[in-house]
Amino acid sequence: MLKVGLIGCGFMGTMHANCYKALEGVTLAAVADIRPEKAAQLADGAEIFGDGKELIEQADVDIIDICLPTYLHAEYALLAMEKVRYVFVEKPVTLTIAESELLKAKQMETGAFVQVGQVIRFWDEYVALRDIVRSGKYGKVVNANFRRISPSPDWGWNNWLHDVSLSGGAAQDLHIHDVDFVLSLFGEPKTLHSVRNTLSEKNSYVNTLMQYDDCAITVEGTWGLPASHPFEATFRVVFEKAVVENAGGKFMLYTDGGVEEIKIEKKELSAMGGTSGNISDLGGYYNELYYFTECAKNGEEIKQATLADGSASLKFLLERELG
Ligand SMILES: NC(=O)c1ccc[n+]([C@@H]2O[C@H](COP(=O)([O-])OP(=O)(O)OC[C@H]3O[C@@H](n4cnc5c(N)ncnc54)[C@H](O)[C@@H]3O)[C@@H](O)[C@H]2O)c1
Repeated sequence: MLKVGLIGCGFMGTMHANCYKALEGVTLAAVADIRPEKAAQLADGAEIFGDGKELIEQADVDIIDICLPTYLHAEYALLAMEKVRYVFVEKPVTLTIAESELLKAKQMETGAFVQVGQVIRFWDEYVALRDIVRSGKYGKVVNANFRRISPSPDWGWNNWLHDVSLSGGAAQDLHIHDVDFVLSLFGEPKTLHSVRNTLSEKNSYVNTLMQYDDCAITVEGTWGLPASHPFEATFRVVFEKAVVENAGGKFMLYTDGGVEEIKIEKKELSAMGGTSGNISDLGGYYNELYYFTECAKNGEEIKQATLADGSASLKFLLERELG
């Protein structure tokens, strides 16, 4: 059994705990949160710690997963790399570029494998899109739009998400998902133009136009929508011979020959030996943690959503888009 230590039992820690409980050959062995009731809610038999550092020092675990507010990632990831060989850090990898450099230096020193929670790289529709782009079957990409728009995230402990000095704001917390995915698929653009609405952080909106040799890509993100507006994560990619669109809960292919839904096989968790339910309820989180835990079980290198990847996306965002 692979023993997991989970630090931070808030919104994302809860999602990760549910994934670990559904994964085969994996046990949630220790949980830590400074709010004891949050740790207790997820524990389900796991040892409970009142602070992440106590878990790192004392828990008997094989891997450590850090779901803390962003401004704490670096401090805890540095300690975790001293303790275990496999560390998962939620996105954005760190608050600053300097901190991500410290993590890379510590990785060189310890040989730890680190995965960053750039979960879109593992999300079914985005994985399918990547396969379609790389296959070339509909020709080159001509134009694309990636959009992530959301009401204000008001769940954070002590409202840390709304303090830009702790979270980096909507650009660093939300928009980085699509930026990271675009970089992973298309690389860095030749030129870009990025506009950030500065009315207030709560209403901030980022629009970025990236120019490549053959195509232009727009990426937009906000968490400034009213509470009644649904969260939306969509894309439309125009190829020479087709359009692939993921919007309104439908994943569609449009060609001159007609329109069809692109089917994605949704596996039942019970069929995989875990708790019952539909794997799609856990989204790409299950997929990314399946990959992470399989690498750890097999002693393999983390090659997807690596520390280098997460750090490069942060650097691109802070220096080229917002700089
Ligand atoms: N991948 C995604 O789609 C996604 C989505 C949401 C959040 N996130 C990321 O996950 C991270 C956590 O965000 P969240 O929304 O879960 O925040 P949250 O506020 O809901 O949870 C953070 C938890 O950390 C706890 N905590 C604070 N200091 C601690 C310490 N020293 N030791 C132990 N626990 C401590 C808090 O009590 C809280 O329960 C952030 O980096 C965020 O950007 C990623």
